[in-house]
Amino acid sequence: MRSHEEGRISSNWVISVLVFLGACLCCRSQLTPNFYSRSCPNVLGVVRREVFKALKNEMRMGGSLLRLHFHDCFVNGCDASVMLDGSDGEKFALPNLNSARGFEVVDAIKAALENECNGTVSCADILAIAARDSVLLSGGPTWPVLLGRRDGLVSNQSGANSGLPSPFDSVDQIIAKFNAVGLNTTDVVSLSGGHTIGRARCATFSNRLFNFSGTGADDPTLDQSLAAQLRQVCPASGGDGNATTALDPNSTDVFDNHYFVNLKRNRGVLSSDQALYSSDAGQAETKALVESFAASGPLFKIAFVNSMIRMGNIVPLTGSAGEIRTNCRTINSS
Ligand code: HEM
Ligand SMILES: *[C@@H]1O[C@H](CO)[C@@H](O)[C@H](O)[C@H]1NC(C)=O
Ligand SMILES: *[C@@H]1O[C@H](CO)[C@@H](O)[C@H](O)[C@H]1NC(C)=O
Ligand SMILES: *[C@@H]1O[C@H](CO)[C@@H](O)[C@H](O)[C@H]1NC(C)=O
Ligand SMILES: *[C@@H]1O[C@H](CO)[C@@H](O)[C@H](O)[C@H]1NC(C)=O
Ligand SMILES: *[C@@H]1O[C@H](CO)[C@@H](O)[C@H](O)[C@H]1NC(C)=O
Ligand SMILES: *[C@@H]1O[C@H](CO)[C@@H](O)[C@H](O)[C@H]1NC(C)=O
Repeated sequence: MRSHEEGRISSNWVISVLVFLGACLCCRSQLTPNFYSRSCPNVLGVVRREVFKALKNEMRMGGSLLRLHFHDCFVNGCDASVMLDGSDGEKFALPNLNSARGFEVVDAIKAALENECNGTVSCADILAIAARDSVLLSGGPTWPVLLGRRDGLVSNQSGANSGLPSPFDSVDQIIAKFNAVGLNTTDVVSLSGGHTIGRARCATFSNRLFNFSGTGADDPTLDQSLAAQLRQVCPASGGDGNATTALDPNSTDVFDNHYFVNLKRNRGVLSSDQALYSSDAGQAETKALVESFAASGPLFKIAFVNSMIRMGNIVPLTGSAGEIRTNCRTINSS
């Protein structure tokens, strides 16, 4: 009797523990749009105001802030690791050096939020909200941003070098890098549509000009009139690898589906962009997705939103993991 009772109690206890653990596991990985509704009710208004100010000053900043969230999430998850200063950090990794920008805008948002509700909103969440607002204020779609991420304690330079896609990667390599963070081929193509805004430096595409792969000519998958324009920006000799051109030459600062229309006309700027449509490496799947997003702006925007939410969910720190940084550039204990 007694042992039966003990058995019942202990199995109830086991079930309770399992339910409790399950709830913890669930809610630890669970971000929610209302995370700050009590602790910082004005968070969305404050971020929107600061992003608006930044874009009013320079429309390109919308692209820069969108890319910052992407470069954050692909390395150790969306934990603001990209924001940490230090020459051994992600800012000095190849994909970010002389390239990632918008850090001062994030600082300004953080300062405004420390005034509003100090010690409450993570830098990782600021990046996610700023990316959403940048897309919206550039004429793109909006969505409820999931919140509750906490800030990481390390910046992972080698992780950034190996995990972030390169414009010189093949489509297969890019798909593999997305798969490594739980994203699929649909996400590769829809999120590449982020290149409907922002700019790229000559260093990232000038290999397609003048003497592509030693052929003595431009990349054959590059439209000749666009090539001529790009040669003006990046002359063969005496050129500046830091000079930039619009990733979507047709509607530079507008978040639309022209990026995909451009690819169908050989007018993708980066080799990795054009390869989604033109690669002869058997990428029928990416080509079909480009076709469908080129054919329908609304379809692209729905796919983009779904993929942004999936990207924003890459292994976030939640609960008591990590910390809420006071200054996005340093961990609190330093
Ligand atoms: C699919 C693989 C991708 C590759 C190979 C890639 C590569 C690049 C490169 C080389 C640049 C120019 C950087 C420079 O000139 O220094 C760039 C810019 C940009 N990328 Fe990507 N990217 C990829 C995916 C994404 C994703 C997923 C997003 C966001 C959803 C994104 C958003 C942007 C934006 C907005 C810019 C312009 C930034 C600015 O003007 O400051 N990219 N990308
Ligand atoms: C918020 O600011 C108050 C007043 O300056 C300070 O006493 C408090 O420690 C701060 N809290 C956090 C979490 O930074
Ligand atoms: C850095 O990223 C790599 C690749 O994802 C990972 O294997 C490694 O554990 C990370 N290092 C730290 C310190 O987070
Ligand atoms: C990628 O994942 C999304 C969401 O689960 C799904 O709707 C889509 O069909 C997937 N795409 C591919 C190519 O598997
Ligand atoms: C193009 O590159 C190839 C291989 O690197 C080289 O042999 C050739 O001289 C280059 N042609 C020009 C016009 O620079
Ligand atoms: C680009 O700018 C950076 C920072 O100002 C500089 O260190 C680098 O040498 C420049 N690169 C080229 C190719 O001009
Ligand atoms: C983009 O510009 C090119 C060259 O001016 C033009 O041929 C093309 O129709 C434009 N595409 C869109 C989507 O407006």
